[in-house]
Amino acid sequence: MDGLAAYELNISCPNVACGGIQFGSNPQMTAQVVSAARRVSRRPLWVKLSPNVADIGVIARAAEQAGGDALTVANTYPAMSIDFRTRRSRIGNPTGGLSGRAIKPITLRLVHEASKAVGVPVIGLGGIETGEDILEYFVVGASAVQVGTANFADPNACVRIVSDLEKLCSSENINNINDLRGALQPENH
Ligand SMILES: Cc1cc2nc3c(=O)[nH]c(=O)nc-3n(C[C@H](O)[C@H](O)[C@H](O)COP(=O)(O)O)c2cc1C
Repeated sequence: MDGLAAYELNISCPNVACGGIQFGSNPQMTAQVVSAARRVSRRPLWVKLSPNVADIGVIARAAEQAGGDALTVANTYPAMSIDFRTRRSRIGNPTGGLSGRAIKPITLRLVHEASKAVGVPVIGLGGIETGEDILEYFVVGASAVQVGTANFADPNACVRIVSDLEKLCSSENINNINDLRGALQPENH
């Protein structure tokens, strides 16, 4: 099929009853499913990891060793939204994935840990709404980013964010965004 640059294998869906998040929570299962997909795919294979793990570095390494060409970090966080008056969930299921601005600090930490654990590119995804958010993801080790929830609030979000990023790079004298990749400085104590 023309027009597809890569496949992204989602091993981290928190919204299905079985076979979603389980794959991404266990390094052996991660390796099995990534190997199986690697064998049948002729395009680059990205693996989308779950944020709900004790050590994302272990899962990231399993996905890389099984043939993942890049890792997307990360999916949503299982959460609840409750209407106390009706005693019911406000969403279709009892729980659902939390996304958007609230998750950015947690996902930044995961991108940082995953990028230290592997050599393949890490794609940051979680709460990006501005050009500054993108630069933060690069500083902790991302090589690229994706935007999810911001598109629901504003279908033009990506156009705005890219324009915002260009202006920010220009005003901050950043000639090449890759100069920021993994440039996190150690704390002075
Ligand atoms: C309504 C909605 C549907 C989603 N569906 C999928 C999906 O089908 N597959 C997937 O890998 N991630 C899915 N996600 C997760 C997003 O791709 C993304 O990983 C997550 O929302 C974090 O990024 P964000 O904060 O920019 O939205 C969905 C997110 C939302 C809010």
